[in-house]
Amino acid sequence: MPPTISMILAVSDNGIIGHNGDLPWHLSDELKRFRKITTGHAILMGRKTHESIGRALPDRRNIVITRQRDYQPLDAAVEIAHDVDAAIALASTDRNETELFIIGGATIYESAWPRVDRLYLTRVHGQFEGDTYWPPPTLDFDLSDWTCRATENHPIDAKHAHAYTCETHDRLPPPHTPPTHTHVIPHNPT
Ligand SMILES: NC(=O)c1ccc[n+]([C@@H]2O[C@H](COP(=O)([O-])OP(=O)(O)OC[C@H]3O[C@@H](n4cnc5c(N)ncnc54)[C@H](OP(=O)(O)O)[C@@H]3O)[C@@H](O)[C@H]2O)c1
Repeated sequence: MPPTISMILAVSDNGIIGHNGDLPWHLSDELKRFRKITTGHAILMGRKTHESIGRALPDRRNIVITRQRDYQPLDAAVEIAHDVDAAIALASTDRNETELFIIGGATIYESAWPRVDRLYLTRVHGQFEGDTYWPPPTLDFDLSDWTCRATENHPIDAKHAHAYTCETHDRLPPPHTPPTHTHVIPHNPT
């Protein structure tokens, strides 16, 4: 079985995912959730997200996507791919991999979107300043063909300045299309 292709992202109410190369918020429980969900799996990310994290994330296979043929990652443990399909193929070479994760940023989310089976979406409740958005204006981001199988709310508390909601969505299989019948025109011998 090929691995499930999952995408995991956090977006504010006004569509912001990043600012100045970093996350616009600090939500420690959300980071713990990210670690718990992705640990033991391959994580696929854009070169800028890798540089913003600044190291390979432990206990995960880190695959960085860049067009630079001679790119030197920040950590020797990092593997390199030169497009999203190649990164997915590389992660899928591990026969034991059950679920791989597209972890951003915006350019990689956009390229990967048609191939994504599952979406872990955190909605951060607030308006943020930022320079990186989701969804991009060119993408038809429509979850009507998806099913939401889990929702969890996290309130504001002493460690979290913003409330957030974690949703898990699965893409529904395409509707069944009946086979088209070929009508054979009988041969008329006359
Ligand atoms: N809120 C969230 O959940 C979340 C998650 C992740 C990141 N972020 C934020 O998002 C921001 C970074 O996102 P970003 O969109 O600017 O950058 P990014 O997607 O992380 O990285 C962009 C780079 O990836 C490479 N790349 C992109 N598409 C490619 C393709 N089709 N083929 C080959 N290489 C490709 C290019 O690297 P080269 O230039 O080296 O060729 C490109 O410059 C940061 O602020 C980060 O903190 C937010």
